[in-house]
Amino acid sequence: MDKLLVATTNRGKLREFRQLLSQMGIQVLSLDDMPEKIDVEEDRETFLENALKKAKTYGDFYKIPVIAEDAGLEVEALDNYPGVYSARFYSIPYGGVEQVDGDKDSANIKKLLRLLKGKENRRARFVSVVVFYYPDDFGLWTEGYCYGQIIDEPRGDKGFGYDPVFVPEGYDKTMAELEPEEKNRISHRGKAVRKLISLLSKIYSTPKSNNITR
Ligand code: IMP
Repeated sequence: MDKLLVATTNRGKLREFRQLLSQMGIQVLSLDDMPEKIDVEEDRETFLENALKKAKTYGDFYKIPVIAEDAGLEVEALDNYPGVYSARFYSIPYGGVEQVDGDKDSANIKKLLRLLKGKENRRARFVSVVVFYYPDDFGLWTEGYCYGQIIDEPRGDKGFGYDPVFVPEGYDKTMAELEPEEKNRISHRGKAVRKLISLLSKIYSTPKSNNITR
């Protein structure tokens, strides 16, 4: 395997995947590098189903190995919302639609803080489900979690998405105040990708078939 497509256009995610996969010594492409564009709707009810759908659709279309991830934030006091709706939480009926003044990440955070106002339980976790698909051959998936608390005011300008309001367990900084290497060390995505790399290194160092000769 010399090329791998990471099926995302999210720059924050791509930057983290490139760092995490750098040790594999393969060329990491993103959807922006693909000449022909196709759209895959993330319309399933679980992270795994969405990630599988993306991996299989892009892998079969472009005919190269693919990593696809579906990730999000689950908040205990909000019935585990935003969950699979994390990217477009501002626009869904749960808790009322939020107007977008700036970017979508800010609108998502604004809605989250509005719904948590006055609530004592601030427990939340990030979830990452990563699927690797080698077209017509095999697929595998891993998952990673990062537990923490949602704070009242955004802090920090690193990372992306909900990072400025998420303080990981054992830290007093938000995810957006951590250096990228530190975030990757403890993040849901870091954990899922390291498990995947370990599985792939086992598969690629094991002969695929034992020829029986007479
Ligand atoms: P998707 O996996 O691209 O469908 O979207 C995941 C959404 O979940 C992102 O748009 C973010 O809002 C949120 N999210 C996922 N991972 C992270 C993270 O590492 N930090 C902050 N927000 C995240």
